[in-house]
Amino acid sequence: MARLQDKVTVVTGAANGLGQAIARRLGQEGARLALLDIDEPGLQALAAELRASGTEVTTCSGDVTEEAVVQQAFARIQAELGPVDVLVNNVGGSRNARIWEMSAADWDFTLRLNLRPTFLCTRAVLPAMMARRSGSIVCMSSGSREGTPWTAAHSGGAAYAAAKAGIHGFIRDVALEVSALGVRINAVAPGPIETDKTRAVFAEMNATLEHSPDRMVPMRRIGQPREIADAVLFLASDEASYVTGVTLDVAGGR
Ligand SMILES: NC(=O)c1ccc[n+]([C@@H]2O[C@H](COP(=O)([O-])OP(=O)(O)OC[C@H]3O[C@@H](n4cnc5c(N)ncnc54)[C@H](O)[C@@H]3O)[C@@H](O)[C@H]2O)c1
Repeated sequence: MARLQDKVTVVTGAANGLGQAIARRLGQEGARLALLDIDEPGLQALAAELRASGTEVTTCSGDVTEEAVVQQAFARIQAELGPVDVLVNNVGGSRNARIWEMSAADWDFTLRLNLRPTFLCTRAVLPAMMARRSGSIVCMSSGSREGTPWTAAHSGGAAYAAAKAGIHGFIRDVALEVSALGVRINAVAPGPIETDKTRAVFAEMNATLEHSPDRMVPMRRIGQPREIADAVLFLASDEASYVTGVTLDVAGGR
């Protein structure tokens, strides 16, 4: 029996990077996927690939920081697929700058992109999860929630660190609110992970910084998206049935 057989599973930010790897991994385990992203061509390409391998996929394109977009997407998902069993709040990102040079616009962008979709999507799925006394939510924090030497040295990541610490606080509190109602919520905190977007940046950091990822990560390597997807799968599945309110570091020992 696959680990998420027939579970209605939403992944945000699924068109690229870690979200793509998460969608592939959960699809392999029998999930019925609803993928959300602002990148419509990327969504369609992934959906075609997954359907070709036998996975059921629905796509919703739009900006998940927008309340109306999220409300419409979840209304459609629940009408088409039924109540959501698993939500992966993966969307996130950063506009980095030294804190003394950071614009308020970049600060707001980073806080909004990491926190608002997590709040809006969680709020959208919880009533049905609580009514059925079943559901698992996995959010995306980061090792950066405690500061990251290479990011600090390279460009400055305080807004991102604040946002990802915010995700940890969010899952801790929501777990207290919903644990007795049968819903679990956890986070994964990746270290530096190689994606199409990060590959060149990490290579430059390794070549130029004293406190580089390849020196500061005890395992002495960048992680792979599949390693994050496997941790998300564990927390999403019934194998983690007594795990809630946890931020799981998947960061090579940092
Ligand atoms: N890659 C890493 O090293 C790393 C490390 C720690 C944490 N993370 C976290 O993991 C998550 C995924 O990171 P990634 O590296 O795959 O990022 P990414 O930028 O490669 O992918 C993000 C996805 O989200 C989509 N997206 C962006 N803004 C959106 C919006 N407003 N509405 C809908 N979709 C939107 C993008 O189109 C893209 O498909 C993020 O939360 C990130 O902060 C990544």
